[in-house]
Amino acid sequence: MTAQVQSPLKLQPAPAAALRLDAPDGDGVAMLWIDVPGKKVNTLSVALLPEFENVFAKVLANKAIKAIVLASAKDTGFIAGADIDDLGKVRNAADGARISKQGQDAMTRLEQLGIPTVAAISGDCLGGGLELALACTARVASLHKKTKLALPEVMLGLLPGGGGTMRLPKLIGLANALDMMLTGKNIRASKALKMGLVTVAVPQNQLMDAAKKLARDLAHGKGPKKPKPGMKEEAMELLLERNVLGRRIVLHEARKKVMAQSHGLYPAPLKILEVLAKGTYEAEATAFGELLMTPESAGLRHLFHSITALKKDNGPGTEGVKAPEIKQVGILGAGLMGAGCATVLADQGFTVRLKDRDHAAIGKGLDYAKKVFGKAKKKKVYPEAGYNERISRISGGTDYAGFGHADMVIEAVFEDINLKQQMVADIEKVTQVGGIFASNTSSLPISEIAKKAKHPERVIGMHFFSPVEKMPLVEIIVTPKTAPEVTAATVAVARKMGKHVIVVNDCAGFYTTRALVPYMTEAIFLATEGYDLMDIDTAAMQMGFPVGPITLMDEVGIDVGVKVMKVMKEYYGDRMQFPPDVSSALIAEGRLGKKNNKGFYKYENGKSVMVKGKKVIDETVYQHMPQGAKTKEPDFAAMGERMVLGLANEAALCLQDGTLRDGYAGDLGAVFGIGFPPFEGGPFRYMDRLGAKKVVERLKALEQANGKRFAPCQLLLDMAKKGTKFYPGE
Ligand code: NAI
Repeated sequence: MTAQVQSPLKLQPAPAAALRLDAPDGDGVAMLWIDVPGKKVNTLSVALLPEFENVFAKVLANKAIKAIVLASAKDTGFIAGADIDDLGKVRNAADGARISKQGQDAMTRLEQLGIPTVAAISGDCLGGGLELALACTARVASLHKKTKLALPEVMLGLLPGGGGTMRLPKLIGLANALDMMLTGKNIRASKALKMGLVTVAVPQNQLMDAAKKLARDLAHGKGPKKPKPGMKEEAMELLLERNVLGRRIVLHEARKKVMAQSHGLYPAPLKILEVLAKGTYEAEATAFGELLMTPESAGLRHLFHSITALKKDNGPGTEGVKAPEIKQVGILGAGLMGAGCATVLADQGFTVRLKDRDHAAIGKGLDYAKKVFGKAKKKKVYPEAGYNERISRISGGTDYAGFGHADMVIEAVFEDINLKQQMVADIEKVTQVGGIFASNTSSLPISEIAKKAKHPERVIGMHFFSPVEKMPLVEIIVTPKTAPEVTAATVAVARKMGKHVIVVNDCAGFYTTRALVPYMTEAIFLATEGYDLMDIDTAAMQMGFPVGPITLMDEVGIDVGVKVMKVMKEYYGDRMQFPPDVSSALIAEGRLGKKNNKGFYKYENGKSVMVKGKKVIDETVYQHMPQGAKTKEPDFAAMGERMVLGLANEAALCLQDGTLRDGYAGDLGAVFGIGFPPFEGGPFRYMDRLGAKKVVERLKALEQANGKRFAPCQLLLDMAKKGTKFYPGE
């Protein structure tokens, strides 16, 4: 008997018809509707390809059809991209390349139908969706704010494999195409019009009429006028893009930028540049297949799955629970975190009241918001009126005036259990019945904060990351007493703030801080052993962390870091060791990090001192290290392993003890909250890649060499014995 290997080219057929071709109107314009059955949004799958072939044949056979308008029959958008599930089933690069070629061929058939084709775009037009639109003769986009055009394949460790690398540069020029393909960023309709990515942009209610009119005009040989590039742009384009040498220069510069940003850890952007240099469909398909087989793409696609899975999780017990709507939020503490939360909340339309101990602190908090909104105004994200509107949503004072009507209070005062308990008591006196108390503690157990509360069911953890306006995660912490509607409402607020959300169970440090602390403390251990501080950062960055732990400690505040480490040590003992002498000496010396211009690195006026484009260590910090300045040559891989495996082991323990409710939350939380390398897909996916057996072997070796803090947790021991994985299906 031979094993049946399923070819990715023979996938399940699409259930019901996803394409519907209407009869042509009086002008010969036929509508081709895309409506993938059983899906909320349209995606392009391999199973759809025969349907496209059928429709193309029907079009060719019907001489009454003079032009086609392609549009989505779903109000959720045009097409959100290729179906990633298809890609997960591919087992080798040749099959991956074949899928890409099939897609390319379908697009080419559309392009060569011999009659004008117009894509009517509203909502998401991403990846394969945009490639389909690019194969049309012209594109009309709705100006609705939800309309987004992008080629985000790079974010999944891939490249546009449906002819996008060929068609996009021809349409909008090499530099613009590179920008879109290397960043995957969204382009709004008005910008798309300016770039020439779409032919016409109109208000949503005129979309179909405009698309039909354009199709009719094209059928009559009347094309829209191409916007004339300015003299400067034209000269630039001639000089750089329309000759071989010029293209080479553009690609070379782009490569330098990619290497500087990604340290060569991400294969996709480099492949995109290679494919653009070759400029053939074949090169695109081959590279697509190769990228599909990289562990980096698998890790990034796993992350995408985690995001999708967690969007449905509103926390334990929330199924069927109606979350009360939150409109007014009170914030205690206008410091770094309080001001950050106020800014993002006001941006999203919430009314915010800040309270701090004095007016100077309130002023500083408001200045924070003004700075963030000011930058957005400068970038034309919104006009002056939008800026004023946002500022007017935030007010502040030194008492509880304005808190009486708050639906929710976010506490961001100092990390002190007595103070936080006092805040709960104060708020229970002044706010309305039913209001939520959300603590932004970074380490203290929420049950402790709620210990003296009259209504512990209204107390919850809402852990933001700094800077709040930039960091994409909120970790929500529930205690056994937190009411499900409180959880659901808090999750809804965090999502409205534009954040990814993980909901975890309560304990000191919850998930993200517990996972981060072993990584940070290991960095200090390495420093005390005589490794250079910058080498420690380099070791982490070579593993794919965006910044190293020494830099991170300077950014967060060494005092803040030490305080958290102490809390962790208090609760978890030996597992959370840290070198206390060094930490105390740093604090005693007033070395608090970037905020007071005295950290591991040198700072002036809150900015890093740079020498030849590199940050420099403040050598005086080595007086606190038992070995003095650098005495050990770096072994970056071994140093990185020590930091990452400590983190991964603690993550596994969080799953074992129920702090984490699943691996997805652990992966997403580590990548978006603490900078775990995205291409690894998160610590659980990373451990799966290595295999539990290897992880346990390495942890045991590290335990022998460095102590108990590396003792592998029971879950990993069991998994190593049984040979199981966190994600058996992947
Ligand atoms: P911060 O020192 O910048 O701000 C704290 C603010 O609370 C100060 O403005 C202070 O005047 C005010 N405050 C103190 N007592 C008060 C009272 N009785 N009433 C009103 N305001 C009072 O500190 P930061 O960094 O904003 O941290 C705040 C909380 O957020 C802490 O619990 C911290 O652990 C947590 N956190 C901090 C993160 C960070 O990266 N800095 C990240 C996540 C959480």
